[in-house]
Amino acid sequence: MAEPIFECRSASVALAFGGQARPIVSDIGLSVHEAEFLSIVGPSGTGKTTLLRMLGGLLRPTSGEIRMRGEVLTGPPDGVVIVFQDYGNALLQWRTVAANVAFGIERHLPRKECDERVAAVLELVGLSKRASDYPWQLSGGMQQRVQIARALALRPAVLLMDEPFAALDAMTKAGLQDELLRLRDQTGTSFVFITHDIEEAVYLGDRVAVLKGSPGRIDNIVDITLPSPRDQVTTRQLPEFLAYRYDLHQAIGHG
Ligand SMILES: Nc1ncnc2c1ncn2[C@@H]1O[C@H](COP(=O)(O)OP(=O)(O)OP(=O)(O)O)[C@@H](O)[C@H]1O
Ligand SMILES: [Mg+2]
Repeated sequence: MAEPIFECRSASVALAFGGQARPIVSDIGLSVHEAEFLSIVGPSGTGKTTLLRMLGGLLRPTSGEIRMRGEVLTGPPDGVVIVFQDYGNALLQWRTVAANVAFGIERHLPRKECDERVAAVLELVGLSKRASDYPWQLSGGMQQRVQIARALALRPAVLLMDEPFAALDAMTKAGLQDELLRLRDQTGTSFVFITHDIEEAVYLGDRVAVLKGSPGRIDNIVDITLPSPRDQVTTRQLPEFLAYRYDLHQAIGHG
């Protein structure tokens, strides 16, 4: 297999808490490959967001290391973009949808190229017709798609997503799940996707990593060998899908 994009080697984080170092995640060994969709699940407080922030170069491991394409991470790397759960605060309310999407690229690209790229990613997320609206004129699902479009406009090699669909209704969520898989196929982007929703983790994932304990550790990494392309109705009814779902519920510990 090709060299992984990300490699965590025995990465641990301890944060200062009332004068003491409190271990948050411990001995994380994990790799992320080109065009891979890696889901991460685990109970609340096991350090999923902490792990994502480490991969995004926002937090350095206290011990161990994280490499991106072989180089030890010392800060936010080029080509890695984080999509946060809180899309409301992530968008600039006084900018139109198009101007929000252009935000990260407008200073680096000639106007025409920037406009073309914005139009292309809005098309990908199905928001071409809302380009001149303001965020507050959009539904929650649309706002989250704007945040995703803005991330894609940067042409990231890796998208790190922290429970991006947690607040969305089931239908919007299903549509966005399929958009992510389509994008992965079209662009070769790698995804690290945190979710509380085990079915979502299985539906999207090539692998599902389970984080458990305090400090959080990788308890298990499950290879998901479901047929591609995945389909919201047929994939979710496959006996293998149900078996993955069952096993992961057992692994996490809520039955
Ligand atoms: N800046 C900080 N200082 C001290 N402790 C922190 C800090 N950030 C997070 N923690 C602690 O680290 C642990 C893991 O937090 P984290 O947010 O990574 O968990 P999580 O798995 O993302 O949880 P959730 O599923 O609820 O989002 C928690 O016990 C939290 O209290
Ligand atoms: Mg979290």
